[in-house]
Amino acid sequence: MHTGAREHSGPLLFPGSAVLGFGAWGIGGSGWGAATEETERLAAIAAARERGVVWFDTAPTYGEGESERLLGRALGPHRSKVRIATKVGPRDDPRASLEQSLQRLRTDYVDLVQLHEIAAGWESRLETLHRLQQAGKARAIGLCNASHVELSRALRVAPVAAYQGPFNLFDRDVEERLLPLCRDHGLAFLAYRPLASGLLGGGFSESPHFPDNDHRTKLYWFRDAEFARRRLVIDKLTELATGLQISLPALALRWLLSRTGVTIVLAGARRAAHVTDSLTAADAPLDDDTGREIETAMRAAFRLPAATTAATQEARSWGPRERFIVEHLDGRATPEAIAAAWTDRGEQPMVAAQVKVFADQLLASGLAE
Ligand SMILES: NC(=O)c1ccc[n+]([C@@H]2O[C@H](COP(=O)([O-])OP(=O)(O)OC[C@H]3O[C@@H](n4cnc5c(N)ncnc54)[C@H](OP(=O)(O)O)[C@@H]3O)[C@@H](O)[C@H]2O)c1
Repeated sequence: MHTGAREHSGPLLFPGSAVLGFGAWGIGGSGWGAATEETERLAAIAAARERGVVWFDTAPTYGEGESERLLGRALGPHRSKVRIATKVGPRDDPRASLEQSLQRLRTDYVDLVQLHEIAAGWESRLETLHRLQQAGKARAIGLCNASHVELSRALRVAPVAAYQGPFNLFDRDVEERLLPLCRDHGLAFLAYRPLASGLLGGGFSESPHFPDNDHRTKLYWFRDAEFARRRLVIDKLTELATGLQISLPALALRWLLSRTGVTIVLAGARRAAHVTDSLTAADAPLDDDTGREIETAMRAAFRLPAATTAATQEARSWGPRERFIVEHLDGRATPEAIAAAWTDRGEQPMVAAQVKVFADQLLASGLAE
């Protein structure tokens, strides 16, 4: 499409103010340690639908199709009342992938089809998604996990209607550039991992040992210094949630629902009880004072150190990304701001996690204080 993209992004699909959606990765039954019983996973989907959840987000890779299959079974009879978002892998043939998704989902269209990641040739895949939209296979198209530079480019390629990225109390890269970009262009913003993959569920007082078949073994925030920082904040959040007579996850989800520009908060769950609890977030109270207390706790726990003079000297022989971080470690900059400033340059994107981990290494070797 290229010239004049984003002219016809699709029907008015998305809600005008933020709502909770159902994240269907966990119900795929793999990637999250031992799977819960299928009956329990079906009950989680039913609990969400019966309590008014409209948007369900899945992908062909979630349980190798099992998430889509279960959604198809559970939502088939209610198809006209729900909205289904699925994805296409960055190296998959979009037509074949979406066709298989439609079969598993027992439907002839999805409401949103999203390119799952950015990889070589992504622009032409996005154009194919647009052709699939024109053929009636999807009501709208979107993109996940792109940098703001890539999303800006995508808007010139095809009529993208939605962007999906990670966003929770701790992972806030999107606040720097992506959320404002979505707001400026009228794109729906779908927040994924709103509970930091379960950490904000409140069940982890110590750094956990997940089984090998749990993707969380690879998530840096479940170990080392980042886990300790998040734990500190969780203690404060738990105190605030108790005062408000709501659960910790409800507070975390409510905070996200109140962020300007957020359209759908994709709360993941594989148990009905979790769905029921998470949905209390929609009516949970969150006043300005509580919001300020949350920000104060966050700022105190996540303050970056300043690089030492020795670090600045040593960095001259380091790679450009490391040098950039050291140059910006002044004791005031946030990791999100440093990462966004690097990504502005249009090279390989950087995220706050990389800044934090590198700053921890500098601290450990005495090169930051
Ligand atoms: N586009 C992408 O690349 C991408 C990436 C990741 C996720 N997503 C989407 O975003 C959705 C949400 O992310 P996510 O599932 O990875 O993580 P999440 O929503 O942050 O965390 C989900 C996990 O939190 C725990 N939990 C949920 N509700 C709870 C409650 N009320 N109390 C206590 N614990 C609770 C459960 O863990 P246990 O079951 O272990 O107890 C649940 O599996 C996914 O399902 C998927 O649709 C998209």
